[in-house]
Amino acid sequence: MKSIDITGGNTLCGEVSIQGSKNAALPLLAASVLIKGITVIHNCPRITDIFSMIKILESIGCKVRFTGHCLEIDAKDITSTALPAEYVKVMRSSIIFIGAMLGREKEVSIHYPGGCVIGNRPIDMHLEALKRLGVEFTEAEETIQAKAGRLEGNEIFLPFPSVGATQNVVLAAVLAKGTTVIKGAAKEPEVTEVCRFLQKAGAKIHGIGTEILEIEGVPFLKEIEFTVVPDRIVAGTYLLAGAATRGAVLLENAPVGQMDSLLLMLKNLGAKIHVEKGQIFLNGEEAERSIPFIETRVYPGFPTDLQSPLMAVLATADGVSIIRETIFEDRFRVAKELNRMGGRIFLKENQALIYGVKKLKGMKVTAEELRGGAALVIAGLLAEGRTKIEGLSYIERGYEDIVRDLKCLGAKIEKSE
Ligand code: EPZ
Repeated sequence: MKSIDITGGNTLCGEVSIQGSKNAALPLLAASVLIKGITVIHNCPRITDIFSMIKILESIGCKVRFTGHCLEIDAKDITSTALPAEYVKVMRSSIIFIGAMLGREKEVSIHYPGGCVIGNRPIDMHLEALKRLGVEFTEAEETIQAKAGRLEGNEIFLPFPSVGATQNVVLAAVLAKGTTVIKGAAKEPEVTEVCRFLQKAGAKIHGIGTEILEIEGVPFLKEIEFTVVPDRIVAGTYLLAGAATRGAVLLENAPVGQMDSLLLMLKNLGAKIHVEKGQIFLNGEEAERSIPFIETRVYPGFPTDLQSPLMAVLATADGVSIIRETIFEDRFRVAKELNRMGGRIFLKENQALIYGVKKLKGMKVTAEELRGGAALVIAGLLAEGRTKIEGLSYIERGYEDIVRDLKCLGAKIEKSE
């Protein structure tokens, strides 16, 4: 199993550029299916989830070229509407193909996407919302067949602002007959980005960035080029690593406007933050404060994807912190490994009580999922001695090269097979 070896105790100091956003890029690959021609996506991160999505695109007849960070997708001919189970089962975000394939081919069959360790991640809201557009679903043993004679615009209410469900409805609605209004839409930047992509291709979408999206169906979308924004979660991870090691970190190209809740959190930890022209400078010398209470919220609240990395930082803060996780039902799993390293973290329902300790002790630990893995990297950076993190493949799903990036910041970190 591929792993990461870290010698802890280093104060991070340096500058690093931030990769394109995983969660902004993935829906764009699905959206490219709506364009009967060529889509060029710049600044696309070279992460395993993108390569899995490329396999799905190729399996339905798209021709794909991925050179450097430039992804070219030719979706002129779609030759199949059945998505390959092997990729759908390992990557839940492939569910986003439902809306795109319905928009393009009016039908799709897809293996039921598995949950994952952070929660069972149902898709009830996706299905209920798409039914409002005239989609009919039948379920075979483990696959879902979706068909829509005609996609008709309608009014949809999402009981929870699900990112994926919002994206799926938008993708199905842009080529539908008539107008679709989504009330209770997610406002995450990754929803805004896919709307901007579609708008550039000729879609008519109003209310972008708000909880009410209005999509007026158009007959077709045109070929476009689009650039993926930097990844706000990767940027946040590296700033938290800088704070954890009391270091000085400069992010060269962060999506500053998407990071207000994190920047406030870093200031509450005691870090000094300077923002200038898309760059973020963090001085973490005094970032030792505990956080009496923080809860993860939908955007623009504190993002659930940074909850585990924050937990690693608070494990050695000066005092007691409480984190409440309100988005996923099982996203405290990394606490077990942090406690093995000497942390004092106690879980009760959706709350974690974190008593800051002086030091964590380096040892062999195992990542079970993407953001928990990133949290273990931060723990390894601040721990005494050496830490070996098994499960690098989880981390590579979202971080293009966390070892390369942290080496830019002076970390003693290596990959090992
Ligand atoms: C997206 O997942 C992100 N993934 C997640 O990032 C992120 O944590 C999440 O949004 C919240 O911001 C991608 O963009 C690929 P949701 P998504 O639908 O769309 C429940 C990472 O680490 N729910 O907003 O799946 C669901 O179970 C990943 O990069 C239903 O109950 O998130 C969860 O508890 C992890 N029924 C909550 O809503 C539904 O039909 C939020 O899910 C849909 C969702």
